[in-house]
Amino acid sequence: MNLDFSQIVPYIPFMIEGIWVTLQFVIVAIIIGFIIGTVLALFKIGSIKPLRMFADAYTSMFRGTPLILQLMIIYLATPQLFAYDISPFLSAVLAFGLNSSAYVSEIIRAGILAVDKGQTEAAVALGVPYREMMIDIILPQALKNILPALMNEFITLTKESAIVSTIGYLDLMRRAQVVGANIYLNFEPLLFVGLIYWGLIMVLSLLGKWLERRLSVGD
Ligand code: ARG
Repeated sequence: MNLDFSQIVPYIPFMIEGIWVTLQFVIVAIIIGFIIGTVLALFKIGSIKPLRMFADAYTSMFRGTPLILQLMIIYLATPQLFAYDISPFLSAVLAFGLNSSAYVSEIIRAGILAVDKGQTEAAVALGVPYREMMIDIILPQALKNILPALMNEFITLTKESAIVSTIGYLDLMRRAQVVGANIYLNFEPLLFVGLIYWGLIMVLSLLGKWLERRLSVGD
């Protein structure tokens, strides 16, 4: 056995820095995924058929292919079409945001459909316009239903973020590999960032539990 944790000490700040680098694009991707996902969910439950078909096809495509392939298409393949340079950061934000929106749209769609039909009926009877009904009445109630599933999605996204290491983005995962290559020891840096990922997920799930408790105060 050949373990020497003292070797990673000089690299600890470098690896810690990766937390922010990872979180940066994960947070932006979560926001994009949530916004597009909400729009797609409204398309799915709406009555306009072309929009419904678009949202269904979109979801099917993004859930039916590997995320790493979508990332590669955005980072490596689209520059071939449009002759532009796209940074690893922007590629990652787009791939993760677009991919997540497909999952989020299904979560929100199910959450909206789970809101009691009487709520819609009452709103319609009172003459509340569709937009206000959705934003002020249905979505706030749906949010409570979907919160656990949504937190789950954010956790998945945070862990899957490690695949951006394949396009040279210096995230946590990539940093562990760089350190491993430098000191010819892989166990120590991988274990170190593993603990960081685990910590991040713990924080996320505690946050989810706390939000859930807060939202259920009214029940
Ligand atoms: N490993 C899966 C894939 O490659 C994960 C997709 C991302 N999942 C998610 N809930 N956003 O397709």
